[in-house]
Amino acid sequence: MIRVENLRKSFGGQPVLKGVNLEVNRGEIMIVIGQSGGGKTVLLKHLLGLLRADAGRIVVAGVDITELRGEALDAVRRRYGVVFQGGALFDSMSVFDNVAFPLRERTALGRAEIAERANAKLEQVGLGGMGEKNPAEISGGMRKRVAIARALVTEPEIVFFDEPTTGLDPVLVNTIHGLIVDLHAKFAFTAVMVSHEIPEIFKIAQKVAMLYDGRIVEAGPAEAIQNSPNPVIQQFIRGDPEGPIHLR
Ligand SMILES: Nc1ncnc2c1ncn2[C@@H]1O[C@H](COP(=O)(O)OP(=O)(O)O)[C@@H](O)[C@H]1O
Ligand SMILES: [Mg+2]
Repeated sequence: MIRVENLRKSFGGQPVLKGVNLEVNRGEIMIVIGQSGGGKTVLLKHLLGLLRADAGRIVVAGVDITELRGEALDAVRRRYGVVFQGGALFDSMSVFDNVAFPLRERTALGRAEIAERANAKLEQVGLGGMGEKNPAEISGGMRKRVAIARALVTEPEIVFFDEPTTGLDPVLVNTIHGLIVDLHAKFAFTAVMVSHEIPEIFKIAQKVAMLYDGRIVEAGPAEAIQNSPNPVIQQFIRGDPEGPIHLR
């Protein structure tokens, strides 16, 4: 579904992505792990068409999006749902309006249909009846649910999650992960998630890729990564201050 080939990106002469290669199959949950500041969000932004590669290629569902612009890029983006780092809800809008927003922007559906779909999605994330609240009035865990409902309301084929559980307590982390797994089972989207919730992500990932020093050092089934002999991966998973990883 997604193929990244030799993706390179520097900012002000500082290389962040030094030749990233990654493949994500249709319908799988791929979780990209790696150090803070290591380029995970930068990688996602390239997949979203929000940043331009210095070199390399990104192919989504057979379409090379690397050089796409305008309407052609928008057409690809309409297949996407995105949960941004921090949730990024519109604070001036109600919970309902936040979830209805992509339907109003991207579809020609009428009011009643939009209301039905937005309310159904709120129901599916466990927020039935909360539509009239403002984002400021609800808890951090609920805001993440709203962000997930908003990302999924258009029933996208591919959903990107940038650290969807950052700042939540361990119980909520597992609750949100469980919600993502349930929704994935129901809607069968392809998911690319960036996270450093170790070890929790190993319970929900089908594939895991580790981004380190500007490259994917290893990618594969979650269990294979967990048991990888690669000292960089083992150090990261254990959170060991001693080892080959140079600290940022
Ligand atoms: N638009 C930008 N301009 C300049 N530097 C950037 C930009 N976006 C990200 N960076 C830099 O790229 C590096 C990787 O950032 P990021 O992808 O956000 O890391 P993370 O893995 O924590 O998501 C950081 O050093 C960051 O400062
Ligand atoms: Mg980030």
